Amino acid sequence: MTQSNRRTFAIISHPDAGKTTLTEKLLLEGGAIHLAGEVKARGANRRARSDWMKIEQQRGISVTSSVMTFERGGLVFNLLDTPGHEDFSEDTYRTLTAVDSAVMVIDAAKGIEPQTRKLFEVCRLRNVPIITFVNKVDREGRDPFALLDEVADALALDVVPMSWPVGMGGQFEGIYAFETGRLMRPTGDSRAFEGDVVETTGLDDAVLDTALSPQGAALLREEAELAQGGYAAFDLEAYRAGDMTPVYFGSALKGFGVRELIEALGTHAPGPRPQPAEPAPVEPMADDVTGFIFKVQANMDPNHRDRIAFMRLCSGTFRRGMKLTPSGSGKPIAVHSPILFFARERELADTAEPGDIIGIPNHGTLRVGDTLAEKPGVRFTGLPNFAPEILRRVVLKDPTKTKQLRKALDDMAEEGVTQVFYPEIGSNWIIGVVGQLQLEVLLSRLEVEYKVDAALEAAPFETARWISGTAEAMAAFASINRGALAKDRDGNPVWMAKSLWDVGYVTERNPDIRFSATRER
Ligand code: G4P
Repeated sequence: MTQSNRRTFAIISHPDAGKTTLTEKLLLEGGAIHLAGEVKARGANRRARSDWMKIEQQRGISVTSSVMTFERGGLVFNLLDTPGHEDFSEDTYRTLTAVDSAVMVIDAAKGIEPQTRKLFEVCRLRNVPIITFVNKVDREGRDPFALLDEVADALALDVVPMSWPVGMGGQFEGIYAFETGRLMRPTGDSRAFEGDVVETTGLDDAVLDTALSPQGAALLREEAELAQGGYAAFDLEAYRAGDMTPVYFGSALKGFGVRELIEALGTHAPGPRPQPAEPAPVEPMADDVTGFIFKVQANMDPNHRDRIAFMRLCSGTFRRGMKLTPSGSGKPIAVHSPILFFARERELADTAEPGDIIGIPNHGTLRVGDTLAEKPGVRFTGLPNFAPEILRRVVLKDPTKTKQLRKALDDMAEEGVTQVFYPEIGSNWIIGVVGQLQLEVLLSRLEVEYKVDAALEAAPFETARWISGTAEAMAAFASINRGALAKDRDGNPVWMAKSLWDVGYVTERNPDIRFSATRER
């Protein structure tokens, strides 16, 4: 394969910054919403589409919003949805392991918010390159310089403004793009972008004096010149290494900056990157088909036990019906009815390329973190489990349901909804989550799907660490900490801590033991 035409990315943001609005505008620009709204598919697209619609209807699984695909200028964009809750789960983290780049949306009035920062840190772990979109410039926002400096300081990134807002809120007169010298202006009462573009040869061009108010033209020249002088020039390598972020100003709601963002993804964002794996990283141009499962979506309908495993293709050309071997079970499976996600103009193809996502229906054989390969022997690494931030004791109301409860907890641990810890002493199983929302999902699924009536109680622990060390060191540690030891779903030893202070203290006192806040699956 030569240069890939795939761009697989996610949008990261704090709730309310405008991710949904921007997603809609990106899909609209790429023609994909059209498609989603169409009742009947035509011609060759019918089969592909009905494949997943049938699955959605029969099994009650919403898969289309997890992967959104659109095409533009010969490129195929795969946008992976990161669940946008206040709280987040490991699902969100893991989705970010399946993308090659990310768009970070910031509210111009609020700057960097807690969730943005958390998601950013996950991107940084894997050096995922980030394009920044400062949204809502049609409203009163912070000074653009202050916003740029905040991104630079808070995230320790070099920032490069690629465009500039001419005023904000009531004074907003448009967006000027540095790369092209284009000025995009609002139109009519809605003050939206409807294609009113003024081409300029640069900031000195006199056309700006007629295209903008005198104050607007003066403000743009003054600020844009300062900005160009004050920040480094765009450096593709630094961006792709995750050290620099190009910043685009815009308004998702009013359509400003959306096209520029797609163009930036097309020209700057990387195609499929080599993926960390054992025994060696997998290059996207390798011939053999490989991929990994980053998400498993279970069915909310209790009558069906099916799940959809989402696989990111890392190398090779996948073909419908192909046999792949999952690293978990080691037994080859024929992937006869994969869900392939299609862009508008693509002919029905039974193939997928590196960077694409494939949905694989299964009955629980595929697990998050599994590698699938044409030829076994490869294993992708770096899909972490995160140390839980909330631990709860599970109390069963009907003791005859112990078996069902264990199955439910194991299943959900397998899907990555929650983690489960079986203490060495005592019979109270403990579940761990990264965010509060996961607790609600757990309780509701226990009731609806597994018919288990259970309650969650405070646990005497606040967090947990996976532990490892020599047999002697582990035995010595166990002899004095037995009451705080447990096993996770896969039988790995875990030490549960009463507090974060405890973590620091015990870590320091036990240099022979490795305490880990993440565990690779
Ligand atoms: P999210 O997915 O990141 O949570 O954000 P979402 O797109 O839902 O946007 C949150 C609110 O911000 C929405 O208002 C949306 O219309 C608004 N919004 C998004 N982009 C822009 C923009 O560029 N300019 C302006 N002015 N507003 C924008 P909403 O649904 O009406 O919610 P609310 O305003 O009632 O809170």
